[in-house]
Amino acid sequence: MTTWPVQGLAYGGDYNPEQWPREVWDEDMRLMRKAGVTLVSVGIFSWALLEPKEGLFEFDWLDQLLDLLHSHGIAADLGTPTASPPAWFMAAYPDARVVSRDGTVMGFGSRGMASHSHPAYQEAATRIASELARRYVTHPAVAMWHVHNEFGVPVGEDYSPAAVTAFRAWLQGRYQDLDALNDAWGTAFWSQRYEDWEHIGAPAVAPSVVNPAQRLDFARFTDHQLRQRFIAERDAIRAHTLAAGVDQPITTNFMANATLTTDLFAWAREVDIVSNDHYLTAADPEGEIGLALAADLTRSVGGGAPWMLMEHSTSAVNWQERNVAKRPGEMARNSLAHVARGSDSVLFFQWRAGRKGAEKFHSAMLPHAGESSRVFREVCELGARLGQLGEVQGSRVHAQVAILWDTESFWAQDLEWRPTVDHRHQERIRAFYERLWRDGVTVDFVHPGQDLSAYRLVVAPALYLLRTEHATHLEDYVASGGTLLVSFFSGIVDEHDAIHPGGFGAPLARVLGLTVEEFLPLREHATGTVRFGDAVLEGDVWQEDLALAGAEVRGTYLTGPGAAIPGKTGAAITRHTWGAGHGWYVSTRLHGEHLAAVMDEVYADAGILPPRPAPGLEVVTRHGEDASFVFAINHSDHDHQLAVSGTDVTSGVSADSHTIHAGEVAVIRTPVSREGGDGTHAAARASHPLA
Ligand code: GAL
Repeated sequence: MTTWPVQGLAYGGDYNPEQWPREVWDEDMRLMRKAGVTLVSVGIFSWALLEPKEGLFEFDWLDQLLDLLHSHGIAADLGTPTASPPAWFMAAYPDARVVSRDGTVMGFGSRGMASHSHPAYQEAATRIASELARRYVTHPAVAMWHVHNEFGVPVGEDYSPAAVTAFRAWLQGRYQDLDALNDAWGTAFWSQRYEDWEHIGAPAVAPSVVNPAQRLDFARFTDHQLRQRFIAERDAIRAHTLAAGVDQPITTNFMANATLTTDLFAWAREVDIVSNDHYLTAADPEGEIGLALAADLTRSVGGGAPWMLMEHSTSAVNWQERNVAKRPGEMARNSLAHVARGSDSVLFFQWRAGRKGAEKFHSAMLPHAGESSRVFREVCELGARLGQLGEVQGSRVHAQVAILWDTESFWAQDLEWRPTVDHRHQERIRAFYERLWRDGVTVDFVHPGQDLSAYRLVVAPALYLLRTEHATHLEDYVASGGTLLVSFFSGIVDEHDAIHPGGFGAPLARVLGLTVEEFLPLREHATGTVRFGDAVLEGDVWQEDLALAGAEVRGTYLTGPGAAIPGKTGAAITRHTWGAGHGWYVSTRLHGEHLAAVMDEVYADAGILPPRPAPGLEVVTRHGEDASFVFAINHSDHDHQLAVSGTDVTSGVSADSHTIHAGEVAVIRTPVSREGGDGTHAAARASHPLA
């Protein structure tokens, strides 16, 4: 059981005092106290200051900083600075520079830069991690460790000579002999056969499309390489925490859903606490849905355990095309939405806005406008609010619906030369997630190999790469009473990106009662229609010619290439009974209300009554030992009533119904609910009707 680094919910952010004169640090302490800050991440980009020359360590400034934090009762999440190798390192080891897929050798003067596969980088990174741990595991300010920063960005795939050498070694470990590799990669195609391991390279830009199985393996290798770097630094720190007998969790900050370079289900097994960074996409007018998705994914990869929001922003970021400032109240809504979905911290990038460098236009807890600014006022209000929510720490979110998430499927699916460029895996994940979010249904993301028995409904949006054993797992889930909803381009290839024999979707043929005879992608901007009961649904991008083998037709193509195929029913949407459950299939791309019509029938099969909150109202429940906490977040500009019996944790008012004011968040403490997950089934709905 991991010790939580601070009492209650942690509040604070990245703190970079090395960018400021010493007198500013005292001012920082005063203002952190005022804001209710309890935890700051330090040292993340400080390598050049901590080791100004190779092997020469200077810790005085960090000693002073940690002492100062401790004297003000603020805990430190101590970073290893390995995401930013110093100038001396790059000068001494020029061949450690990262090379991009198109062959560009990356320069100095930014961050990232070093190849994770280069032995000198590996050695230097492990050494600085170890030296930091040797010195600081016994420091009373240090509550936890933050390894590196966002593995996978800005350095993900690396095509440097060191990476190519490491890739060959990794392939030898994976395949043992070249025949096995040639077979897995299908190298009989285009004369790609290898007779010598030394001839194999990284899948760099080539005259035409590169072998997709090679690219898929390179994605796996990249994930593996990065993970090994985390493990090496973690173990260097752990050797010292174990020797000192201290319990300091070690994490690294993920970027759930924002970068797909890393397979977070595998990473989550390696960290003591899952932590995540999330930034709104300004171009997305409903950023709260993307936020909820990232938060649910973060919780899910960690198996539901409390996690940490390691970074988000108080207002605008600086790296998007149009950096939209958060409106009054939005920062609190965002923060509490993460908490509602299982985060036990609210941390920001960064504490004080920097005057110099590439991020000077990024918002901060303490903006350039200073203590009297709106943002700082809201930061103080949020700190006070989180202080009242301490008892939420450790409570959990329950879900009855799962969306399948397999990072390998992402890696394989979005490569070149697929049936249409208009289909992206993430788009389908978001479309189904969005539908469930609007219906008020809480979702877990689940790997297809995981136990599914807790879920009434499992959704598989475009699960392109599907291992046969995972398909069998899905069959068993349905046979024992589950409801499975599969959308097009699922079950197409195996782990080597080779088409499954037996027709498209063959591994799912038994559970769905069909295979796909032919994909029928639509021309750009074209749409097609489906008759579904009394409704006519509109879809775009994709249709199919289905080969039915037992499935019941619930929707038929009216227009588009799927309609009027001689001798065919034009089946578009199907339902199949398999054992005690049902397998649904949707063969076109539906959105919004058109998808809602199908989901209603699927919910009915799954025995789910979605709570359907008022538009703009987001309601999620966390369940603790002694109480449950209903978080109601009002994203709309008018008040809503929430009929739930309990006590508003902030106002202390007990009532059977609470007004959730426009733009505000309420947290209602209710008696512990043993049965209801999120109010998605009949029993829970009665006590959870939303106005
Ligand atoms: C994060 C990164 C931080 C900072 C932030 C700005 O991805 O970890 O160091 O750059 O972005 O939004």
